[in-house]
Amino acid sequence: MTARASAPGKAILFGEHSVVYGKPAIAVAVDKRANVTIREGNDDSIHVKIPELDVYGVIDIETGLISLENDILGQENPDTFDAGILKFIKSALFRTELGSSPDHGMDITVDLEIPIGAGLGSSAAITVATLAAAARYYHHDLSLETLALTAHQVELEVQGAASPLDTTVSTHGGFLYFTHESGGVKIKPALEMPLVVGYTSQPGNTGLLVQQVRKLCNDHPTIIKPIIGLMGNVTNHARESITHGEEERVGELMNINQGLLDALGVNTDELSRLIYHARSAGALGSKLTGAGGGGSMIAYCPGKTREVLEELQSIDNAFLVGMSRKGVTW
Ligand code: MEV
Repeated sequence: MTARASAPGKAILFGEHSVVYGKPAIAVAVDKRANVTIREGNDDSIHVKIPELDVYGVIDIETGLISLENDILGQENPDTFDAGILKFIKSALFRTELGSSPDHGMDITVDLEIPIGAGLGSSAAITVATLAAAARYYHHDLSLETLALTAHQVELEVQGAASPLDTTVSTHGGFLYFTHESGGVKIKPALEMPLVVGYTSQPGNTGLLVQQVRKLCNDHPTIIKPIIGLMGNVTNHARESITHGEEERVGELMNINQGLLDALGVNTDELSRLIYHARSAGALGSKLTGAGGGGSMIAYCPGKTREVLEELQSIDNAFLVGMSRKGVTW
């Protein structure tokens, strides 16, 4: 038996971090995906291969212990960043929502097109695709809503605080305005949104950054809460501007959002360099995307895509991303 599923990464245009505090966000699924294949194994363990990350792990079915080559990734041991992704896969495979759990060996291959720790939703995409492939493998029906919700539970379990934004976008695809009340509502942009992604050499750790912002908010509630409120306003203005095709305003709002993210302490000098160089090369707006602390920035640069891409490539890694209407496929 072989089961396959695939799910897209995402770029957050507006509202990262403030979404954790109940504010809206705007995000788009991108044309880079996580592809998961599950095959029946030859022994009693679950073997996981992620060739792009050079991660080869084994999950013990009985104990749930994850080993990486010869090292045991116990709770108390510091993980290597890339190997931490195995925890999402393990948590996904053992969710009760799947109706069954592993009772024999499996070989799992993850073919990853999304850079990890880049703020582009690699862990959400791997989680969604693993759940979908496992549901297929167990011949279990899972609605998209349950899939998105279960993937969010996995993120909570592994990463601590998280909003359902990444897993919602990865499940449903498209261009989404996300609120906690309504989930993801698809919106129709009245403008082209070419996005250049520049990514830094430093991966961002989402769980850690969310905790860091929480601490700042606890330490300075009368300052940080209004900033988070403003971020919600920026997102709502951006929704209007995107649906009315107001290019310059979208860019300005991205720059304002970036200033507010900087105030939350999630910017870095490497990100700043990319962000300001993108603006100098003609981007209408540029900001970090995802959790920050490293990871990626995005630049909105209608008519100037080539110039901005070349400028960012001269500093760090950069590439163009397109929107994906396709969410999870299985
Ligand atoms: C991470 O992609 C986005 C954050 O807002 C965290 C979350 O929403 O779970 C930083």
